[in-house]
Amino acid sequence: MRISVIGCGYLGAVHASAMAELGHDVIGIDVDEHKIGELASGRPPFFEPGLPEILTSATASGRLRFSTDMADAADADVHFVAVGTPQSPDTNAADLRFVDAAFEALIPHLAEGALVVGKSTVPVGTAARLAARIADAAPHATLAWNPEFLREGFAVKDTIEPDRLVYGVGDDHAASVLDRVYHAAIEAGTPRIVTDYATAELVKVAANAFLATKISFINAMAEIAEVTGADVTQLADAIGHDARIGRRFLNAGVGFGGGCLPKDIRAFAARAEELGRGESVGFLREIDAINLRRRQRVVDLAIEALGGSVNERKVAVLGVSFKPDSDDVRDSPALDVAVQLKGLGAHVVATDPQGIENARVRHPQLEYVTSTEDALREAELVVLVTEWSEYRSLDPVATAQLVSSTSIIDGRNVLDPAAWRAAGWAYQGLGRP
Ligand code: UDX
Repeated sequence: MRISVIGCGYLGAVHASAMAELGHDVIGIDVDEHKIGELASGRPPFFEPGLPEILTSATASGRLRFSTDMADAADADVHFVAVGTPQSPDTNAADLRFVDAAFEALIPHLAEGALVVGKSTVPVGTAARLAARIADAAPHATLAWNPEFLREGFAVKDTIEPDRLVYGVGDDHAASVLDRVYHAAIEAGTPRIVTDYATAELVKVAANAFLATKISFINAMAEIAEVTGADVTQLADAIGHDARIGRRFLNAGVGFGGGCLPKDIRAFAARAEELGRGESVGFLREIDAINLRRRQRVVDLAIEALGGSVNERKVAVLGVSFKPDSDDVRDSPALDVAVQLKGLGAHVVATDPQGIENARVRHPQLEYVTSTEDALREAELVVLVTEWSEYRSLDPVATAQLVSSTSIIDGRNVLDPAAWRAAGWAYQGLGRP
């Protein structure tokens, strides 16, 4: 099929590449000339395992092209809109400026029978409004809403082999077109839910709200564990054996971050308020508050570990990206902790396998080093805040040789406390005795 993808940020660049990988003829459109230039040369402007390979092969074969001119999307049968919906600084609601601009720019180019597919995460009610706009300005085209559930670090796999497909449609035709787009996944038996616009929009935010709730639930248990001497990791293992609960997303630590979960739960709460149902998701504010408290907890533990003040003490911060296998530092708990410690006068030396460049743009006041050893050298305290595999596998004996004081805060509960203590370390996890 001929496909356009409008908006080539994280979601759009992955979607365009994955659609080309599936054999479709794809054009990616974005207003950012630099981004389009990089993508056209086969270079993703962010780190995502597996993406460079499929981007390079698709651009080389000619199945994937990029342009800044919306007119180049005109002959596509299906147009995916994958622009960002950032958090409005004042209201926490989703800012729909880029979605509206993309639709207005696309509408004059819609051919007879074209299907426009919204992928962006939007407040419930947006698709119905945009469908009305299309019915008015381009009645020969139709709209579907097809939320995306990809995880950073697994984005290519999640797009090519999704665990479910959700189509919010106004008619059966749109669903059959989407089946052709996703024929490989459909043939592989991927569950497919065909529904109305509002349900499709809500599926996305409900899924993210549920995941955020799971994480904050276990982090709330960590808070209780901290005052009772219980071990939250064993608690998570024990409750996770109940299949109704499940062990995944029950890792207590410094909490969730990234470009989706924090912003999506805030936007959902703001939308519910607008709909007069603020109390229905009032718990999301609590989820957000628990999450932010965990960052503060790590800072408090650092102060405690250094005897009451971090001022002028050397702290090695391991990790700045919001999770491993990503260079994304948006709303990163790790970077937040580093910035807070720096604000308290600590000499913070931060490191990360991929995230330093992005972190430096946001927080140039921090000192960054690329080598883990350089970060650890002479540190009076080590704070592990993103569980990259190289930090999980640090050897406590060898690490002790580098630092000036053997004190570590494991903000992701990924180290073996017994092994670190045996090597002479003062080990402190979150919600662990
Ligand atoms: C998330 C959703 O998983 C995805 O389906 C949606 O499309 C976008 O948002 P992503 O932001 O890539 O994906 O990251 P995810 O793997 O969900 O992790 C989110 C955050 O939660 C990370 O900061 C991670 O460190 C944290 N987390 C995750 C925990 O603190 N504990 C856990 O048990 C799991």
